[in-house]
Amino acid sequence: MSGICNVALLGQKFMGRAHSNAYLKVDKFFNVPIRPVMHTIAGLDLISLAPFASRWGWKNYSTSWKEVVKDPNVHLVDVSTPNYMHADQALAALSNGKHVACEKPLADTLKDARAMKSAAARASKCRTFVWYNYRRCPAVALAHQLVREGRIGRIYHVRAQYLQSWGVPETPLVWRFQKKYAGSGAHGDLNAHIIDMARFVTGQEIVEVNGAVAETFVTHREVPEPPAKPIAGRTRSAATRKKTMGKSDVDDCVLFLARLSGGGVASFEASRLAIGHQNNNMIEINGEHGALRFSFEDMNLLWYYDAREEARTAGWRRIMCTSARNHPYAGAWWPDAHVIGYEHTFVNMVADMMAVLAGEEPIVPLPTFADAYETQRVLEAALMSAKERSAIKLSEVK
Ligand SMILES: NC(=O)c1ccc[n+]([C@@H]2O[C@H](COP(=O)([O-])OP(=O)(O)OC[C@H]3O[C@@H](n4cnc5c(N)ncnc54)[C@H](O)[C@@H]3O)[C@@H](O)[C@H]2O)c1
Repeated sequence: MSGICNVALLGQKFMGRAHSNAYLKVDKFFNVPIRPVMHTIAGLDLISLAPFASRWGWKNYSTSWKEVVKDPNVHLVDVSTPNYMHADQALAALSNGKHVACEKPLADTLKDARAMKSAAARASKCRTFVWYNYRRCPAVALAHQLVREGRIGRIYHVRAQYLQSWGVPETPLVWRFQKKYAGSGAHGDLNAHIIDMARFVTGQEIVEVNGAVAETFVTHREVPEPPAKPIAGRTRSAATRKKTMGKSDVDDCVLFLARLSGGGVASFEASRLAIGHQNNNMIEINGEHGALRFSFEDMNLLWYYDAREEARTAGWRRIMCTSARNHPYAGAWWPDAHVIGYEHTFVNMVADMMAVLAGEEPIVPLPTFADAYETQRVLEAALMSAKERSAIKLSEVK
């Protein structure tokens, strides 16, 4: 791999589009030391693969990920499939000597996540990355830097929430509501992100989970129809279709309390039924010298409270993280004060991945399989705590 990195992307829907966009854009905005080449897209649906490949600029397409991960021309395999596929695909890619960028959560079970961590450790020439992309919101990266600089001092509280509301009863039984495909519900989907964010921003580990509740409010959902096939020149209308219901066996929400390695305490809440919130990925950290607050719904902003300012004028400061010379990643994008969005976090991540593959430092640390395994242990501890109705020390979760 000199100068280019041939990428094979597995999965072509939501994350398939977000990642395709990132590979397409990265060298237009960043001076990357290695340029990603969109080599192969792999998915299940042959009919939609050809137009997807041509729309996004993938050179090849395939319905066989097993063949794709063996292709000697491929350098990096990007796993963007439902959670239950992550381990098989990542392990196959690593055993074929590929670098792997895997979507979060690392796996659907702790056992699979452990196998992935071990395989990554054995494959010493392969680099691994996990798409905890919110680390690369400039405001989150700035929060990480400010904590490292000691700006808020000793951390007392972390308050993290990831609140969505799309899990209403009308939402059909897609893979995200089935344990065999997803592992868990809002927990692995949303708590995974805020556990990673808390670990990343504070630089501390969660050492104990002190109680958790998990709840499934909507236990049965409509099974989605496969795409309608024309019958005698007509398609069946929605009105004539018979509704089939199936069981949702994952949590709709999980809340838990935790202790941090630095002595602080933390609360985490993830829900798909937090009516009134759309995509509120939020963290607040209170320390001895000040506080920080971020919400993805206003992702260009970081809120900072400096407790050392004179009380007469002290207050929350609204920092717009769009200053090219002052804020992480901002220099790659638009003139100062022109805001960025969700897709930019993925482009920022590809830029850092290419830097790491070239032996350079990322702008802020990238999660590896070993790092994401620590997040997976916390997810597991919270589920154990909810089930056993007791506190769980992380040292008990291997
Ligand atoms: N980082 C984030 O912000 C973020 C956001 C959404 C989803 N995700 C994660 O991304 C992953 C994919 O989620 P999504 O929302 O893109 O799901 P999705 O349902 O939109 O797409 C899944 C894709 O995987 C393909 N697929 C399934 N099995 C496959 C197989 N055996 N071989 C090849 N392709 C296969 C499907 O055809 C589909 O294209 C999940 O792990 C999810 O947790 C991350």
